[in-house]
Amino acid sequence: MSRRFPADRATDPAAVKDSMKLPPTLSTPRLRLRPWRDEDLVPFAAINADPEVMEYFPSVLTREQSNAVAAKIRQEMEERGHGLWAVEEPGVVEFAGFVGLSVPRFDAPFMPCIEIGWRLARPCWGRGLATEAARAALAFGFDELGLLEIVSFTASANRASRRVMEKLGMVRDPADDFDHPFLAEGHWLRRHLLYRLNRERFRGDG
Ligand SMILES: CC(C)(COP(=O)(O)OP(=O)(O)OC[C@H]1O[C@@H](n2cnc3c(N)ncnc32)[C@H](O)[C@@H]1OP(=O)(O)O)[C@@H](O)C(=O)NCCC(=O)NCCS
Repeated sequence: MSRRFPADRATDPAAVKDSMKLPPTLSTPRLRLRPWRDEDLVPFAAINADPEVMEYFPSVLTREQSNAVAAKIRQEMEERGHGLWAVEEPGVVEFAGFVGLSVPRFDAPFMPCIEIGWRLARPCWGRGLATEAARAALAFGFDELGLLEIVSFTASANRASRRVMEKLGMVRDPADDFDHPFLAEGHWLRRHLLYRLNRERFRGDG
């Protein structure tokens, strides 16, 4: 079996989409990964308007752009029964950002794939929350969805995101580095690094 193009249906986003289940809430020691609520839109817009949070994205988002992103995330979660969960730290913050699984929509040698991603409000950084939430999302992907591999990618300068990937046991092969097709040639964020995690490694048998 090719490592780049796993043949198993369990890695195929279309197969995963068939499940059409309501998104479950996942719990970790400090967090709830839950479906989105309308009340999340205001704090999500504040996160997306923060230049520090959006440092490694082409631009901050307007309120309208942020709402459109949230609507897309919610629609995909409802269709698939999983996605970029809203992250809550009960008793501390009702909406800290999102962490979860998504299906990237661009051409690259590593497609089709399921990606894990994260975006948290600045005051929530540096306490291991992204890593803790991501472990729950990975467990859902491998154990409930039966995925064989989950990937993540980021602009090479995004050290915090890369560190989260490393802490999760994700592995980078420089041969997988790629230029993000949504960013123009010469854009400082265009070069991206791909990290992979297979089920065996996640479970500690790999
Ligand atoms: C990436 C992000 C989700 C991490 O959230 P978090 O809850 O702070 O993550 P964690 O605390 O679990 O881990 C962060 C790690 O990165 C490290 N880190 C943070 N900034 C760093 C930097 N500039 N250089 C190197 N390491 C850095 C932290 O020290 C920590 O590692 P450690 O536990 O070994 O000390 C958060 O920074 C964020 O929302 N960034 C903006 C959105 C974004 O870039 N998303 C990713 C797009 S690919």
